[in-house]
Amino acid sequence: MSKRWSEVDSYFAKTLIGSDAALDATLAANAAAGLPSIDVSAPQGKLIHLLVRMSGARNALEIGTLGGYSTIWLARALPDDGRLITLEMSGKHADVARRNVANAGLGDKVEIRTGAALATLPKIEAEGLGPFDFVFIDADKTNNAAYLEWALRLSRPGTTIMVDNVVRGGEVVEAASRSTDVVGVRRMFELMAREPRLSATAIQTVGAKGWDGFALAVVS
Ligand code: SAH
Ligand code: DHB
Ligand code: MG
Repeated sequence: MSKRWSEVDSYFAKTLIGSDAALDATLAANAAAGLPSIDVSAPQGKLIHLLVRMSGARNALEIGTLGGYSTIWLARALPDDGRLITLEMSGKHADVARRNVANAGLGDKVEIRTGAALATLPKIEAEGLGPFDFVFIDADKTNNAAYLEWALRLSRPGTTIMVDNVVRGGEVVEAASRSTDVVGVRRMFELMAREPRLSATAIQTVGAKGWDGFALAVVS
């Protein structure tokens, strides 16, 4: 990974984002608890935040909470009466995230559901909690196609769907890859491409997290 990519991310973070007590505390708490530092970067978090605001979303769904760093960016983009449901398999990650989200003053806006997302998503549907205006998919990459299907099931025309980590240092083009992550991302793209309700693109990113990218789609 280029050192310059990180330097440019730091420059943008310092210039356009500034320090933020709740987000800084979240990353510190995650590190103290031994969580992997695979959160979105600050410029990426702000991008997600801006997209949520631009879309006018009132309620959002996140798949893959970790310590709640992206969760805080998402939740802050919603109106005061907005709601975010975020799904996390690890009870440990969810506990850390709950503290971070509460410390950010977002405890009433965010609901963290623990368990495998593919087990939780049918309950969310059964409880009539959809449709969601914005869906951010950022959990295990193996199940990405299934998560995209669920995002569609829980969507309405106009819903924005964003998927993290779709480039993986360029590995996404390896059609013969045996990496379950790459296979999962490619299955997600195949579904995205053939699903007539979706209009989609993907954008490569470089920065503190190396070379990766986001897929972005809107439901019609
Ligand atoms: N969105 C976070 C990063 C998420 S990392 C951020 O940017 O701040 C991916 C998370 O997905 C991890 O916390 C991992 O425990 C969780 N995860 C992995 N498999 C999962 C599954 N099957 N269901 C729900 N969460 C899962
Ligand atoms: C990794 C990065 C991510 O953003 C993520 O959601 C999962 C894994 C990684 O770098 O391994
Ligand atoms: Mg990610």
